[in-house]
Amino acid sequence: MSTQDSTDANRVHIFDTTLRDGEQSPGISLNAAEKIEIAQQLARLGVDVIEAGFPIASPGDFEAVQKIAREVEGPTICGLARAQAPDIDAAWNAIKDSEQPRIHTFISTSDIHIQHQMRNSREDVKKGARAAVAQAKSYCEDVEFSPMDATRSEVEFTAEVCAIAVEEGATVVNIPDTVGYTTPAEYAKFFEDLYRFAPSLKDVRLSVHCHDDLGMAVANSYAGVLAGARQVECAINGIGERAGNCSLEEIAMLIKVREDVHGLHTNINTRELARASRMVSRLTGYVVQPNKAVVGRNAFAHESGIHQDGVLKERETFEIMDATEVGLDSNQLVLGKHSGRHALKDALEQLGFVVDGEALNQAFKRFKDVADKKKQVTALDLEAIVSDEMRERPQSHELEWFEAEAGSERKPVGRVRIKHPSGEVTSGESTGDGPVEAVFAAILAATGAEAELREYHVGAVTGGEDALGQVTVVLKNENGTTSGQGVSTDIIEASARAYVRALGNLLDGSAIRQAEEATSEAVKENAP
Ligand code: KIV
Ligand code: ZN
Repeated sequence: MSTQDSTDANRVHIFDTTLRDGEQSPGISLNAAEKIEIAQQLARLGVDVIEAGFPIASPGDFEAVQKIAREVEGPTICGLARAQAPDIDAAWNAIKDSEQPRIHTFISTSDIHIQHQMRNSREDVKKGARAAVAQAKSYCEDVEFSPMDATRSEVEFTAEVCAIAVEEGATVVNIPDTVGYTTPAEYAKFFEDLYRFAPSLKDVRLSVHCHDDLGMAVANSYAGVLAGARQVECAINGIGERAGNCSLEEIAMLIKVREDVHGLHTNINTRELARASRMVSRLTGYVVQPNKAVVGRNAFAHESGIHQDGVLKERETFEIMDATEVGLDSNQLVLGKHSGRHALKDALEQLGFVVDGEALNQAFKRFKDVADKKKQVTALDLEAIVSDEMRERPQSHELEWFEAEAGSERKPVGRVRIKHPSGEVTSGESTGDGPVEAVFAAILAATGAEAELREYHVGAVTGGEDALGQVTVVLKNENGTTSGQGVSTDIIEASARAYVRALGNLLDGSAIRQAEEATSEAVKENAP
């Protein structure tokens, strides 16, 4: 029986590629623990497939995909592979412990790529696709094939290559708009022509994968779905190569809100969208623009008096969705400085965190520190505190103490004490152009390390003067690139915590992109 026939024909499958295409965004560097945290949230969100990474790219990528395959239950876990034997071996070895593994293999079909990137011929592409799908199928029942740069390829040739993939057992055929070039009408026509030239495509699930270079990723994905695709490849907050991918939250809500026009649905628990968006933003340091559809801070804010008045009288006058539907109401849960351990545990459970034992003690201590400085601790604060605390690794470097002096008439000075994984404590002092820079330099002095600051993002978890600040720092040295996050009511402390974590990741070797990257340059050159 065909895959398409065996499922609900109106169900659109959501294939999340936050951890693969999304992780390829410039400046993003997630370690294995952070990838697991995101993958668990994707499972709570109800995605059908998690593309967990590109296992051949580096041992760090391989390990993270393998951990996700072993630990995350629910979705299919997919590993990406070029149409080359070692890639397919690596992808299979990384995902084989999942309950539902999938290998996703790809090869370009456009003449631009064939002539200039791969420097081979259409015949080589056909042979490569056949061999890759056959090899993947010999390991794994579920195999996805992508003709890369499909939308700039000749449709007849693309159809021929896709038909070969189906002949060799591909269960899903994905049609990438790799460079974000197509338009909705053109993409829909491409699907129509593919079905005509390769009738066997009716027996498998077709998929869309659209990039946002012209701001059309969601519109193009939707056009592909209306033309028959039943899988959408997308990423939380639309992150991905260059301008990014189709945004998961936007396509999921589009399918839900306009079910009246298309009769389609997904399995997404939309109440988890806002949390997924915040988590990905916090861990990647990619800030969500305030006016971002569905999950932006202002997505449900009404500024004009006429709109406010209308919404107060009847929400639907100016709102097409309810903030609660996407989980943007979670800020209401409030604790105060007198709340006890039990209340904290309850509140965390309501937010989906099961925290016990030492982790609860740590979270409680941190909660008390924050509650002493803040009148009310909201759900958003709790989420930030707990994810901040949970990422603390026992064997890592820790900020024991810090001090910063600054003023308009003096050179800022920072002083820190750092506890090393060995238990040794060292101090450092330095000046800088501002107090944050002075503290960063003091941390380097205390650890004797060298690192280049690549990114620094600061934001507030909630509104209000006593809001918690959250900081993401990305550092680079010869070991690779890592990020760290910190949360505190004091922005300098949040910055110092984030810096120490990023540095700890570089120094203790848990960086996902380490020196091994240098040895996999060849892989990166050919990465999608
Ligand atoms: O954009 C692209 O073509 C890709 C493929 C690997 C699907 O990411
Ligand atoms: Zn892509």
